[in-house]
Amino acid sequence: MRGMKLVGIGENGTIAAQEGRGRGERNPFQEKSFKDENRVRLDLTYFFDTPGDVKITVGDFESLIPKVMEAHGMLKENKGDIFDKGIPMTGWQDMPERITVEHLEEIKEAAENLAGEVDAYVSLGIGGSYLGIEATFKALTHHYFNSLDREQRGGAPEIYFLGQNMDPDYFRDTLDMLEGKKVGVNVISKSGTTTETAIAFRIMRRLLEENWGDEASNLIVVTTDKEKGALRKLARQKGYRTFVVPDDIGGRFSVLSDVGLVGLAVAGIDIEEFVEGFKDMRARCMNDEFWSNPCLVHAAARHVAWEKGKKIEVVATNSSPLYGVARWMEQLFPESEGHEGHGMWVSPSLYSEKLHANGQMVQEGERNIIETFLFLKNHDSKMEIPRDEEDLDGLNFVPDRGLDMGYVNRKVIEGPAYAHHKGGVPCMIVEIPRRNAYNLGQVYYMMERSVAISGYLLGHNPFIQPGVEAYKKAMFALIGKPGYEDLLKDMETETAAKRKITVS
Ligand code: PA5
Repeated sequence: MRGMKLVGIGENGTIAAQEGRGRGERNPFQEKSFKDENRVRLDLTYFFDTPGDVKITVGDFESLIPKVMEAHGMLKENKGDIFDKGIPMTGWQDMPERITVEHLEEIKEAAENLAGEVDAYVSLGIGGSYLGIEATFKALTHHYFNSLDREQRGGAPEIYFLGQNMDPDYFRDTLDMLEGKKVGVNVISKSGTTTETAIAFRIMRRLLEENWGDEASNLIVVTTDKEKGALRKLARQKGYRTFVVPDDIGGRFSVLSDVGLVGLAVAGIDIEEFVEGFKDMRARCMNDEFWSNPCLVHAAARHVAWEKGKKIEVVATNSSPLYGVARWMEQLFPESEGHEGHGMWVSPSLYSEKLHANGQMVQEGERNIIETFLFLKNHDSKMEIPRDEEDLDGLNFVPDRGLDMGYVNRKVIEGPAYAHHKGGVPCMIVEIPRRNAYNLGQVYYMMERSVAISGYLLGHNPFIQPGVEAYKKAMFALIGKPGYEDLLKDMETETAAKRKITVS
């Protein structure tokens, strides 16, 4: 049987962009007109004065400004509760200015060499050593990237992620995709001891060594602490190419460091454009005028909502590729804010899919929710909606009004913002003009700075995550890691003393 042809369907804009990147085409990200068209904006039109008892007024919000400005000043000067093992963990705030042209060139060269050598590239890491890379990769590439041919991918290898969970089925399925291909690996771990990453690396390293012997060391890149840790030691022994996770930047703030840049460059993403987005948002976020500073307004809005009993933040996007950015926020905010009984639960949502699920809860459930929309205004591809002579579904009015699917998808944000606000949910809109590296850089910097300000407002250090250690220790004890014998005994005693409740 003959296969389907895409009759009457226009070009795929994402593939065109990828192919363009493969030919060396770049967005004119230094030009003013490009910057003006690609300015990420924050819109609070639907945030204040929701109907019902628990509303947030502009007055509530403005009363917070002095505290926010104080936090802004402290952050700029690297003061306050921002240290981890004696190091101020705010290196990310000047990173856009610190990063040098020479270093970007070095990354690009290493990425090009590796990309040219392999059919598939596997990024190993978890948490901050994973989410930003995957989020950016997915935001800027075709949904079925690995199924496209190499030219359509802009010359990039296939891209996979492992080490972000311990699911053997996912791991095994991913290995099936790698069979018969030349594979490169970048193992990313600041500590070098994270179990999930270390196990994934052990398996991948063995496979690479079995297949390519000594040549395997040319296919492995290590991104870790500049001196310490097991990975650094192994890299020295084996002669792996290494990149550095800076001392003063924690995982979830590291997407602009080597952690994110190497993998993104392998995928063909313009890392200089990405840096430019960070730089420009940094300049806006350094502004001492509250209402011109998106990160201060964002931080203040979230904090006043939290004070008013809002404990859940739905981060919803109308862009499937940007869903990963919502997932990145799901890590950035709770891992930084969830200390000492503080913090809002971040729930990433893809609209309109979720409007037919938890949308009911957002509209009419417990009023402890705020909503932040990652609103993509322009899509890569245009999907026309055809006219139909019979018009049984009554949809001819859409093409008759000259509207396409992208237009309808914009209403997937504007409609809920209106309706959910009316239902009692304060809504913020982060307007993202297009899917490009410049815009993502802006969003990331704004959110990183916003959560840092949030730490000052909440009164705790947002750059550490002591709570994550508890599960790690319990897991180590349970899998019999030497040194955790006493904890295992305690766990067994405590578990034995519990009343067993099982239903079978
Ligand atoms: O944000 C963080 O610091 C964490 O999410 C870490 O990135 C994550 O735990 C992985 O740590 P590591 O890079 O040491 O393997």
